[in-house]
Amino acid sequence: PQVCWLAPEQTAGKQKPYMYTQGQAVLNRSFFPCFDTPSVKFTYSATVKVPEGFTAVMSATSWEKQKDNTFAFKMSQPIPSYLIALVVGDIVSADVGPRSRVWAEPCLIEAAKKEYDGVIEEFLVVGEKLFGPYVWGRYDILFMPPSFPFGGMENPCLTFVTPCLLAGDRSLVDVIIHEISHSWFGNLVTNASWGEFWLNEGFTMYAQRRISTEVYGLPYTCLEAATGRALLRQHMDATGEDHPLNKLRVVIEPGGFCLFLGVNPDDTYNETPYEKGYCFVSYLAHLVGDQSKFDAFLQAYVNRFKFQSITADDTLAFFLEYFPELKKKGVDSIPGFEFDHWLNTPGWPPYLPDLSPGQQLMKPAEELAELWAADSLNMEAIEAVDITGWRTYQLVYFLDQVLQKSPLPEGNVERLSKMYPKISKAQNAELRLRWCQIVLKNNLEAEYSKVKDFLHSQGKQKYTLPLYRAMWGGSEATRALAMETFSATAPQLHINVQNYVKKILGLQ
Ligand code: BES
Ligand code: ZN
Repeated sequence: PQVCWLAPEQTAGKQKPYMYTQGQAVLNRSFFPCFDTPSVKFTYSATVKVPEGFTAVMSATSWEKQKDNTFAFKMSQPIPSYLIALVVGDIVSADVGPRSRVWAEPCLIEAAKKEYDGVIEEFLVVGEKLFGPYVWGRYDILFMPPSFPFGGMENPCLTFVTPCLLAGDRSLVDVIIHEISHSWFGNLVTNASWGEFWLNEGFTMYAQRRISTEVYGLPYTCLEAATGRALLRQHMDATGEDHPLNKLRVVIEPGGFCLFLGVNPDDTYNETPYEKGYCFVSYLAHLVGDQSKFDAFLQAYVNRFKFQSITADDTLAFFLEYFPELKKKGVDSIPGFEFDHWLNTPGWPPYLPDLSPGQQLMKPAEELAELWAADSLNMEAIEAVDITGWRTYQLVYFLDQVLQKSPLPEGNVERLSKMYPKISKAQNAELRLRWCQIVLKNNLEAEYSKVKDFLHSQGKQKYTLPLYRAMWGGSEATRALAMETFSATAPQLHINVQNYVKKILGLQ
């Protein structure tokens, strides 16, 4: 399942086949023999011979094209197995910074260069200032075919990203900042077990938002974090707060001696490690009470555990050792906020960071959603709100509010659709996802084709599964739409995503 072979029709250019690998969480064991656990790190080298007209790239610190279409790669820093990745395709590159280039199929390279030319270096510099040296040499970005199941994958030296990021306005750059943040959290300091995946993703969300705050300011970053919190809310509503996966520390290994129990780490991918993890790290920062002291702690943490794989106990013990006065105060056992409670109790985070600095951006969106949810629409008030200057994440936040209030009173969504073509005809994938969710929750049959088109255009797991869940939970008509769309698109989807959709549709 680890190696994905794409026919020419599944690529952007539709001329040549393509292959890529996705290792995380436990797929690389089907690619090469390895200790396929994040607790073991090693260097590697690889020699890859490809057919004429193809290029091979890997997550490696150095590479060289030899004769006979042979590429030689070497990763000189120890990494866990899941970070080894290979792509072979008709791909070309363009420089976008002193240590960064973008890779893409020829037909996408112009757009790829335009999206990120001159912006990557600043993120790396801010990351280094906050968290210490960037040890991986280059930071390149590879735009994947549309069926790539993730927004981004932090393969060292060479992040893989979905082509959905090519929005034309850099509005989805938070994904790049996220993957850059893994250069310290995840790739340098690694969770020793997938049961503590939050150590990778929660710290990375925190680091991402620290970099974002430095570059784009606190209001914008709080707005982005608020959309993350909305995703956590949706996830917990859908699964139930008490679901065992809504703990930061998840039980992966079976307790007894039955080999067939236990959880597939791939199945633990959800919003909890990301957004509840973010809340826990924010809580640690809150205990410290001083941003620069907490930044210094993060840098010391990376330095202490770099190139190692650790558990949450190591992280928290180091935290208490680094701040002896907090240890003396017993901050690890404040009733309701015990570190143990954070790790082992499912449900909504006991502490939420203050996102009120984002109010100036969130408030207008909340008020507008309120207006659209009214039984009789106050068009004068609605028309008085000018959304033409709104940032993408403001629109996303607005749409999440509308979705939460849906179904809206009869006719409102049709009018909303006509009023804001910028939203209902958006090309931006984050907007398209929300619009499709609204269409489904309001049974707006006239726009069901948009759901279908969106699912035909890309295969990202975080877009695909919520839409199938919504269709399957809806009417006869949306169930039929789900079946029809899945039978047409299944061969294009990553095998894991295919299987998850099958589960939703009761086909497995
Ligand atoms: N490492 C993850 C992607 C991943 C997780 C792959 C689990 C396989 C198993 C990556 O860093 C990630 O979190 N991507 C997010 C980006 C977002 C949080 C900005 C995504 O793909 O949505
Ligand atoms: Zn991540």
